[in-house]
Amino acid sequence: MKKDVVVLGIHDGHNAGAALIKNGAVLAALNEERLNNIKNFSGPPLGAIKKVCQIAGIDASEIDIIAMVGLLRTHAPIKERPFHTRLYERLTPYIHSHAFCNLLVKTLHRYRKMDELNRLFREMGIAEREIFFVEHHQAHAACAFYSRPWEGKTLVLTLDGAGDCLCSTVSTGDGTGMKRIASSTHYDSPSNNFYSEITGYFGLKRWEHEYKVMGLAPYGRPEYCIDEMKKLVRINPRKPLEFQNICGAYLTQIQSRLRKRLAEQRFDNIAAACQTYFEELVSQWVRNCIKETGINKLACAGGSFLNVKANKLIREMDEVEDAFFYPASDDGGTPVGAALEAYYRYCERESIEVQRCEMADLYYGIEYDDEQIEKALQKTGWESKASRIKDIEGEVASLLQQGKIIARFSGRDEWGPRALGNRSILADPRDLRVIRKINFAIKQRDFWMPFAPAILEERMDDYLIDARPARYMIEAFDTKGAASQIIAGLHPYDMTARPQTVNDWNPSYRRILTEFQGLTGVGGVLNTSFNLHGYPIVGTPEVALETLEQSDLDGLAIGNWLVMK
Ligand SMILES: [Fe+2]
Repeated sequence: MKKDVVVLGIHDGHNAGAALIKNGAVLAALNEERLNNIKNFSGPPLGAIKKVCQIAGIDASEIDIIAMVGLLRTHAPIKERPFHTRLYERLTPYIHSHAFCNLLVKTLHRYRKMDELNRLFREMGIAEREIFFVEHHQAHAACAFYSRPWEGKTLVLTLDGAGDCLCSTVSTGDGTGMKRIASSTHYDSPSNNFYSEITGYFGLKRWEHEYKVMGLAPYGRPEYCIDEMKKLVRINPRKPLEFQNICGAYLTQIQSRLRKRLAEQRFDNIAAACQTYFEELVSQWVRNCIKETGINKLACAGGSFLNVKANKLIREMDEVEDAFFYPASDDGGTPVGAALEAYYRYCERESIEVQRCEMADLYYGIEYDDEQIEKALQKTGWESKASRIKDIEGEVASLLQQGKIIARFSGRDEWGPRALGNRSILADPRDLRVIRKINFAIKQRDFWMPFAPAILEERMDDYLIDARPARYMIEAFDTKGAASQIIAGLHPYDMTARPQTVNDWNPSYRRILTEFQGLTGVGGVLNTSFNLHGYPIVGTPEVALETLEQSDLDGLAIGNWLVMK
């Protein structure tokens, strides 16, 4: 039987958002933070739900089913821990087990807060629709598995801090069927109880700033304190597809141990040890999973797969034939996964023929036209400094060549944590002085953090070792000598790059790169996300203009408008 099936996917926890899919294809997806400008907003994504319907041109009455991420709501770690959280932390080392986690999730699921969402469903006239609750790691797994760029047998891996009391899962999949064969509990999480705790030890935000530890790691030497890392978590020797907490402590208790054990250690060496041991753990886990299943094509998702250096090692492993890392691997990507999982479950039950769509571009968000932008320019008082440009791409390329730092707000928002050209800050990558300039322009940006290059896909072999299309900035590569042309887009210490190879999915953005190449001979530009430190990537023309105001950017290309300071 053939029938159109429309699914609304909702995540109301850490980095909440909504997605709308029709017959297995993503029509629209948006995180609430892009609307309310609160980074990693946690709560019902009431704005995003309405917005995805509007973007997709779908009337709410057309929605067949609703997919909710998580049996529980996933909250970010909090500084102030209430009594019951502290008690749970104390008890967990003694009571944790898969059976206990199952019972806890089942029990708490009955009390899952849905009142605000139910109110919205009534308002939208979809209160009677069936709701599929998709377990957190199943939503991550679904993102990667159903979007993978191949058919056939697949090893599906998820790894994150925690969600629905788990931190990792291992599944095997073929066609459109997936079967979980192993999982690790949140107590055994190498991400929460090791990597995120080291992040917290540095005074950085857990569940948000782990990438800063990764960026710092190449500057240090791991050997001074890697043994301390090894005392926290390991691969379970009796269950090689699971992680195991071996320190007998949880969350804040781990923090107090780190303070004693790492007191004499240098910060860069701690970061190096953290990243090195994390890579060792994940590589061994992947090796074990391949050995157990005999499957060497990997589809991966979960916040820990935003670690582009670990992804690089996985991709380069001899045992791995191919690896696909879902770009919106963090919890922000899960509304798509939940919607896909619900779509396949629903179609199977109703005997509806399914269609699988491989992922292509990730421009799932809102596009503002020139008239909407003009209104925003008038409202914010920028109109006098704005002009409508016929060849905006050529103009931007020329400004970059002159050493200007230009933000670009054009086309639809990217899905996931990476700016892929439409909500990006661009600069000439040839001169290292641009790094200092951008760090000052975007106030409080961390001085040690590298930038990334956007490279014309046909030039990737000139710059990258073992190049392959990398369109989502989710993998790192070693670079060749010619990459000195784009040196400001490399990690300044180990010279690796986390590139976006640009193909014809985004013709306007691509044209900026080809024009820049015409002017300079360089096949790439520096690309970093368009936001101020601590804020999400800009989501509206008003926020884009406000960011221009509050930064030292030279200009903003917004739609076909150019605003110069
Ligand atoms: Fe997660």
